[in-house]
Amino acid sequence: MTESMDTEQAEPTSGSAFLEERIRTLLQQMTLEEKIGQMAQVPSGGGHLPHHLREAIQRGQVGSVINEVDVATVNELQRTAVEESRLGIPLLVGRDVIHGFATVFPIPLGQAASWNPRLVELGARIAAHEAASRGVNWTFAPMIDISRDPRWGRIAESLGEDPFLTGSLGSAMVRGFQGEDLSAPGSIAACAKHFAGYGASESGKDYNTTNIPEGELRNVYLPPFQAAVDAGVASIMTSFSDLNGVPATANTLILQQILRDEWGFDGLVVSDWDSIHQLAVHGFTAGDRDSAFEAATAGVDMEMASQTYAHHLASLVHDGRMTIEHIDTMVSNILRTKFRLGLFDTPYTDPSMLPDIAAPEHLAAARHAAVESLVLLKNDVRVLPLSAESLASVAVIGPLADDPQEQLGTWIFDGDARHSVTALQAIRDMVGDRVTVHHARGVDTTRSHDRSGFDDAVRAAEQSDVVVMFLGEEAILSGEAHCRADIALPGNQEALIDALAATGKPLVLVLMTGRPLALERVVPKVHAVVCAWHPGSLGGPAIADVLFGVESPSGKLPVTFPRVTGQIPIYYSHKHGGKPGTPETFVHIDDIQARAPQLSVGNTSFHFDVHYSPLYPFGHGLSYTTFEYDSVRVDPPELAVSGTITVSAEVTNTGDRDGTEVAQLYVRDLVGNVTRPVKELKGFQRVFLAAYERRTVSFTLTPEDLSFFGRANTRIVEPGRFHVWIGGSSDTQTRAEFDLTD
Ligand code: BGC
Repeated sequence: MTESMDTEQAEPTSGSAFLEERIRTLLQQMTLEEKIGQMAQVPSGGGHLPHHLREAIQRGQVGSVINEVDVATVNELQRTAVEESRLGIPLLVGRDVIHGFATVFPIPLGQAASWNPRLVELGARIAAHEAASRGVNWTFAPMIDISRDPRWGRIAESLGEDPFLTGSLGSAMVRGFQGEDLSAPGSIAACAKHFAGYGASESGKDYNTTNIPEGELRNVYLPPFQAAVDAGVASIMTSFSDLNGVPATANTLILQQILRDEWGFDGLVVSDWDSIHQLAVHGFTAGDRDSAFEAATAGVDMEMASQTYAHHLASLVHDGRMTIEHIDTMVSNILRTKFRLGLFDTPYTDPSMLPDIAAPEHLAAARHAAVESLVLLKNDVRVLPLSAESLASVAVIGPLADDPQEQLGTWIFDGDARHSVTALQAIRDMVGDRVTVHHARGVDTTRSHDRSGFDDAVRAAEQSDVVVMFLGEEAILSGEAHCRADIALPGNQEALIDALAATGKPLVLVLMTGRPLALERVVPKVHAVVCAWHPGSLGGPAIADVLFGVESPSGKLPVTFPRVTGQIPIYYSHKHGGKPGTPETFVHIDDIQARAPQLSVGNTSFHFDVHYSPLYPFGHGLSYTTFEYDSVRVDPPELAVSGTITVSAEVTNTGDRDGTEVAQLYVRDLVGNVTRPVKELKGFQRVFLAAYERRTVSFTLTPEDLSFFGRANTRIVEPGRFHVWIGGSSDTQTRAEFDLTD
């Protein structure tokens, strides 16, 4: 805009120019101390306003409070800020609302198994309404770290291993939390986290170092964040982790160059809890003063919990190490978020404006989300669905069958187990008097080593026509800092399965888990496996609906299930390599002859003692009907650099039941400036098909969809040949090919 236009134009009363003007006006009135005060996020008193916090707010030393959900206290916090601080700037009130508030939805990894952005958006919308009715105006979600290591407990909070799926569902969460209008009642600011690369923590151990080449960072870890920025996410949280030697919380490449300069993000960047102080613990700085300098200059606007900014930023400015312009930019990002939230106009919360917490429609949505998140991994001899008409009795076994708390999963600070309905309750409600339900825990917890409950469990099995086992992991075994080095079933659960298998009864395993488990030994012993994740408040009825065929399962894995822990990392979108393992070259350790010569065993890429394939691939999930794909084709036959191409296939429901299938589009770029993955997800659609119905599914691809970061770490579109598949999982073989031409 030229200067003359500036003076000629009438003063704006809305829009971004008006907003920037309001920010500038406010900044001009602020002292340096008040500016630094805006950068502080401090813990609340939890249901009351402690004297020291009231005073700090009155002095303008607090920009945000974390973890207050008592609405009267939040209103008092806001009143203190608005009426008793010099400039009356309202507070951001932050809370981890990760997969629901009082109404708990499936863990994010479970929601991702729905492959349903609309469902994920609705879950976030409901969570936002419930949280907002308590005065919360900022959540630390979505967590969109690409997670390819199921040892890492935080995989539960993630949307899985794939950049495209994570980007689609993460953006849906942003839309759900923020609504169409961030300033409307019931909308809260979202926060995409953890920027960036946290999911690559070495050995799946939380807070560990990550080493991610820039190309890999840009091609795999960053796309979901860019999608969140494009969806208008209000804030970004930095990761605890060290990224290639420069901790993410002080990493200028990602925070400044990529996030601000390349993507144009103008919202708020917050540190993780204490992560600025931890820069010194990493050995990256000599102490808090340098940590404050490094984080602030890299672009972290607000400090969560630790107080290095409060203690050191002013002196860094006075000493000339930091400029006031830089401070103003940081504060502007914070104020912009507060303006966008409408907090200056409406700082107080009136819960009567919003639906009740755990309203019946919220619980119904949680139930529906749980149904769509269930993945049928195996169903030999069609033991499922069970029939309440033909069964006389069912044994419901396991420590997770009737635990209203454990089914909620990790990160449920405000989850209320009084709203939970367990699987045992739901099965009893479903079958009524028609079927006798025998219940036994078998083991006290999933980690128990004691066998004293086995006899009861076996007796229950012997008295029943079918055995349904609710095994897996309690909530405490996944989530932040809850990592495992061995992801087999913990405790004595495998031995319990052996004892139950010895009865010869049909066995159904319902896994309740925060991560993929390594089940190679277990799966052959059972007839059916349903992965229910931690399914949330209404997980029980959802499971009962699927077990008894009221609903046909439609979930698909958002993450690979390894056979054994030692295969990790194992993910579908791997590189091809120069000597890939194949069915022809694979040799099992048991088949190697004694004194075999060195070159007799193939020399290709596999482990002798397991296999090169996973137990269940990304995208896998069965239904009570079956789907077949054929006739994958492209139109036009070539994709011009300025054009689009349509990829289609016929999908047929080949069974006599209606069902929903998730059709998945994958591509492979055969030759690249850098080597390209063997398959990459580029699209998906949930398709409902009546029994025997045949339908065309179509996807559109553009050259942009096929672009990637090459050797120079810039985005390129490379002409050449592509393979393209449409199918029901990442191991689909139904493909076509086309050339991308100049
Ligand atoms: C976690 C974040 C979370 C924050 C606030 C940290 O320990 O890493 O994901 O949002 O705490 O509770």
